[in-house]
Amino acid sequence: MDKRTAAKTAAELREKLNKWADEYYTHDAPSVEDSVYDAAYRQLTEIENEYPEVITSDSPTQQVGDNTLPGFTKVVHEIPMLSLGDVFSKDELSGFINRLAETDSVPFEYNCELKIDGLAISLRYENGIFVQGSTRGNGQIGEDITENLKTIKSIPQKLNKPVTIEVRGECYMPKKSFVDLNDARQRDGQTPFANPRNAAAGSLRQLDPKETAKRKLSTFMYNVADYDDLETNTQSGLLEELKALGFETNPGYQVANNFDDVSSYIDKYQEKRDSLAYGIDGIVIKVNDLNLHRTLGATVKVPRWAIAFKFPPEEAETIVTDIEWTVGRTGVVTPTAVMNPVILAGTTVSRASLHNPDYLEEKDIRIGDTVKLHKAGDIIPEISNYVESKRLQDSEKYLIPTKCPSCGSELVHLDDEVALRCINPMCPAQLTEGLTHFASRNAMNIDGLGPKIIGQLFSKKLLTDVSGLYELNFEDLLTLDKFGEKSATNLLESINNSRQNSLERLLFGLGIRHVGAKAARLIAQKFKNIDEIIKADAETIAQIDTMGMIIADSVVTYFSMPESISLIEKLKSVGVNMDYLGVSEEELESEDSFFSGKKVVLTGKLETMTRGDASSWLTNHGAKVTSSVSKNTDLVIVGTDPGSKYDKAVKLDIPVWEESRFSDEMNQES
Ligand code: IVH
Repeated sequence: MDKRTAAKTAAELREKLNKWADEYYTHDAPSVEDSVYDAAYRQLTEIENEYPEVITSDSPTQQVGDNTLPGFTKVVHEIPMLSLGDVFSKDELSGFINRLAETDSVPFEYNCELKIDGLAISLRYENGIFVQGSTRGNGQIGEDITENLKTIKSIPQKLNKPVTIEVRGECYMPKKSFVDLNDARQRDGQTPFANPRNAAAGSLRQLDPKETAKRKLSTFMYNVADYDDLETNTQSGLLEELKALGFETNPGYQVANNFDDVSSYIDKYQEKRDSLAYGIDGIVIKVNDLNLHRTLGATVKVPRWAIAFKFPPEEAETIVTDIEWTVGRTGVVTPTAVMNPVILAGTTVSRASLHNPDYLEEKDIRIGDTVKLHKAGDIIPEISNYVESKRLQDSEKYLIPTKCPSCGSELVHLDDEVALRCINPMCPAQLTEGLTHFASRNAMNIDGLGPKIIGQLFSKKLLTDVSGLYELNFEDLLTLDKFGEKSATNLLESINNSRQNSLERLLFGLGIRHVGAKAARLIAQKFKNIDEIIKADAETIAQIDTMGMIIADSVVTYFSMPESISLIEKLKSVGVNMDYLGVSEEELESEDSFFSGKKVVLTGKLETMTRGDASSWLTNHGAKVTSSVSKNTDLVIVGTDPGSKYDKAVKLDIPVWEESRFSDEMNQES
């Protein structure tokens, strides 16, 4: 490449990279994969190395990527917050290590750490008290997010010693919270976050700390601004010292004495990656001797004593055979790509959400296309793009449906939202979804009333709304497929028992937008009776701790609709309890658990706990532990030598977790 072309290409790359960095860091909404950014960044570095005269001060190679958003007070980092250099293969890593060894008598002791997929934060403590927390920003100036950080449980308000110290680390969103948050966003017609890192960043940069509090963020701290604040002189010792002060540190670190140790550490975590409860996008290798950190120093952007080994993205190709549309409880119609099954990062994938019509149009996915798949945040299968060279000659643009796949009514976009909705209140798919939610475990807890039975009740016109459930009789139920006297009696009994539920179950079961089980409980606790809730204004509801105006407005809007009031009247007339009766500790504990309501089978020998311990922990967290695997099993946890239950789970396509994944989840929850 001649110098002119180099200058031109570098300028183009700078522009692209700066745009992508702005999308990623400032707006938490990347438009390209990390690997695409990394490749362009690398190309720019190569050009700049060959022609240093083309380097400009706005080149991303000269700056730390993040920026700051208006609305937050700025914080000047007295000691800059640096980024990390990247390598993408073991060859490149050994190059880095050899270069370090040449610089001086560097002893071969490295601390290997997990590279947590979150965002960097800095926490300042004076005499052991948390006084200020900030984002990295551009490395020199960040955003003051103290109040938001105070809502995160793993950040101590007071340290175990009255020290004055500035500690740095990563704030992240656990995978489970990421999946839950995206599910909720999708239900509400909002675009899901691309990965846990963007979700964490978006959650930390909420102007209202109450919003941050809802997002279940966590932290791992791994550094201090100034090593003079420490007693230890190694990076591994620093992690222990931070832990002793009361910070959460990642337990997965390991000191390596040679390149082979570093290499096996990388292999170990590349394999374990999917089973961790949080996302990692690589490994960070740091010189263990802190005195050498001072000697080696840093460039404007990255330290010379550490490097990040980035995991290669896992991708797979397959063919889209269909695009299915499903109608949710709130009428949002969502497209899903159905594909030939393919193995991706260890699991078989045959479906991927296409989120909403805009997304589908933008990606221009068509039936018959070969597509590249990856896992967003290591968990959710997502289509990256179609493969142009493999598009069929007679391929036709996919037409977004205009009619509801369930009831045939015209679909609409409300208030310019991207989501497509069916607004027919009598749409069978919506009613079925709504009733399934009403009957679900955290709502009215009607055992034995699943979507299949509900679908039949609607199609046989035995029901028109949830109140009709309480008017069903024995003969009605006998008309259902495979229903005998015993199943009819049992279901009638479950329905009948649910009349006595405490108010919060009904309130959650009504499916009011934004009102989850916890919000429903807090509202019921405060107002005690449905009529008091109906009368309440949004300001009074919003006074409840952690509630906020979004939930409050939604409750008021719901009860301002005559249909809602008439439904409540009908439910009253069929004897459904409308009073708050108090919640037992047990219910409180099981409510939020991932395992709540799930049927779990344990098999094989567990290493770190007995089967009995695992079983009682699961039961305490709301799971039902059963001994055999069937199509109703939600999860199989396997130890060593699992035997036929494991084979059956794989055959029935039931999620299988190894013990490590289970203990990670246990740690998250207990
Ligand atoms: S050390 C000067 N250690 O990765 C210290 N960073 O891509 C530099 N990260 O900016 C950071 N896990 O936000 C370090 N164990 C770890 C990390 C880690 C995640 C992040 C951090 C950094 C980014 C660079």
